[in-house]
Amino acid sequence: MLELKHLNKYFFKYKVKIIIGILITIIARIFALIAPNLIGNSITLIENYLSTSSLNIETIKSKLLINILFIIGSAVIAGIFTFIMRQMLINVSRFIEFDLKNEIYKKYQSLSFDFYKNNRTGDLMNRISEDVSKVRMYVGPAIMYTITTASLFIIVVTYMLNVAPKLTLYTLLPLPVLSVIIYKISKIINRKSKVVQEFLSKLTTYTQESFSGVKIIKTYVVQKYINKELRSLAAISKEKNMSLVKVQAWFFPLMMLLIGISNILVVYIGGLQYMNNEIELGVLAEFIIYVNMLTWPVATVGWVTSIVQQAEASQKRINEFLETKPSIINPSTKKIDIKGEIKFDKVSLNFKETNIQALNEVSFKINKGESIALMGDVGSGKSTLLELICRIYDPTIGKIFLDGNDIKKINLNELRTNIGYVPQSTFLFSDSIINNIKFGKLDASLDEVKKSVKIACLTKDIELFKEKYNTLLGERGVNLSGGQKQRLAIARAIIKKPEILILDDSLSAVDTETEEKILSSLNDITKKMTVIIATHRISSAKTCDKILVLKNGSVLEFGSHKDLINKNGYYSTSYRKQSSEKEII
Ligand SMILES: Nc1ncnc2c1ncn2[C@@H]1O[C@H](COP(=O)(O)OP(=O)(O)OP(=O)(O)O)[C@@H](O)[C@H]1O
Ligand SMILES: [Mg+2]
Repeated sequence: MLELKHLNKYFFKYKVKIIIGILITIIARIFALIAPNLIGNSITLIENYLSTSSLNIETIKSKLLINILFIIGSAVIAGIFTFIMRQMLINVSRFIEFDLKNEIYKKYQSLSFDFYKNNRTGDLMNRISEDVSKVRMYVGPAIMYTITTASLFIIVVTYMLNVAPKLTLYTLLPLPVLSVIIYKISKIINRKSKVVQEFLSKLTTYTQESFSGVKIIKTYVVQKYINKELRSLAAISKEKNMSLVKVQAWFFPLMMLLIGISNILVVYIGGLQYMNNEIELGVLAEFIIYVNMLTWPVATVGWVTSIVQQAEASQKRINEFLETKPSIINPSTKKIDIKGEIKFDKVSLNFKETNIQALNEVSFKINKGESIALMGDVGSGKSTLLELICRIYDPTIGKIFLDGNDIKKINLNELRTNIGYVPQSTFLFSDSIINNIKFGKLDASLDEVKKSVKIACLTKDIELFKEKYNTLLGERGVNLSGGQKQRLAIARAIIKKPEILILDDSLSAVDTETEEKILSSLNDITKKMTVIIATHRISSAKTCDKILVLKNGSVLEFGSHKDLINKNGYYSTSYRKQSSEKEII
């Protein structure tokens, strides 16, 4: 139960509802007991009438009628209280489920990128949905049934022991056995359900992928292979399901058997006692009702035990995430004025998981308002360097300074708000074009959106869509071309009017003419901005104030276009090669 301690704060939050729920449960149980007692009483009354005919039939009739009215009344009241009990306790479990989901989601939002790299999306989704619903079963039904069972048991058994102690002991004899059997079966059912669930999620993932990858499947003509794979997954899933259903099928017959045994015991032992004049006939009838009343709650003891075990395991998984510390921590909430001077001082980055040295003692300085082109072969560390500026990662060794301050010490939100970052692979939400752009500035006006779209040279494309700026993207929306996506991402970044603009290979999917157009319109708004463009194209690089060439994570060349052309190194070779290609075209 150690892991479930986490939920105590929520129990405390809803303590009033829980306490009222518990009190009402006890009251509901007391009312539920009136009926069997009155039934027993009525039977004794009739028995007495039959054996001693001295009693008046009319008084018997009126007494029976009163009993019937009381039975109905107590059943109605017990029903109403049971309803209120469920409203209280089950509602609390829904509130706690809501709170816990919010707590987990908030935690997810606070965690750094490496957490997302190390955990699969499915896993993150599972903890917030599957695991939380398992925990809810503990918070709601498990606690409710425990209270119901405990209160019923204490009240009924005390009463029964008072009336007929020997018969009570015999009656209760099969109940612990019933509880243990239910516990064992529940455990098997849970284990098998887990396997079924796992296969179901494999099947869903496979099916989902086959839909999203339909283009590849059809063009590579592999439908038959995919069908075969899916069929075999479905077959295993069916097999596991059948095995679960078999165990489930044992559940009720076994319960009925044990209830039957209890009933036979009461009738047999109680019958003997009645014949020996130890008990009245009414008591025997009353006890038969009690046995049936007790069986279900006792059976739930086994069920509840297995729910609690599952909840414990789920809460353990949730706690693992809740206890994770973000690797990138916001050190301050101080508002600062960011100007845009960036300095790298012997920065190295080693990716722990792969042991790849992505950057190696990189040092350079970019002045405010300068533009820098980052060049280098694939995998030379360009994207990594840009991610370090956004603090997606922190350097393993070395320091990065922004306006002379260590970026690890400045307000992380301020830093990121002042950077317009267009990552190498564009991500667009399944939302309208306008909302995707406004992501950069949530309160931007349509005019501002249009302006940034114009700078990104996307106006014409958007005008062609029927819904214009309200065109939906992604699933069941319009799919943009690679170049359109890139330009939309640029519009999203520049609408922020950031102090630092970072474009990671963001013009690779547009033709050189559009590239030139975008660069020249960007020029107008980026005069005061620090701009860093990672690119493979000389046409993008040569317009920048300086060029930084990386090779295997180290700085190979750094200087202006003129400097590097004269140097006869990587840059000048690329320049000559790409210029001659252009001439051929
Ligand atoms: N998240 C990561 N985890 C582990 N290794 C990584 C990660 N990101 C990048 N790398 C590795 O770091 C090196 C540098 O990658 P990076 O993406 O910075 O190269 P790049 O210069 O941007 O290449 P490209 O021109 O293809 O975009 C590569 O060897 C890459 O495999
Ligand atoms: Mg890259």
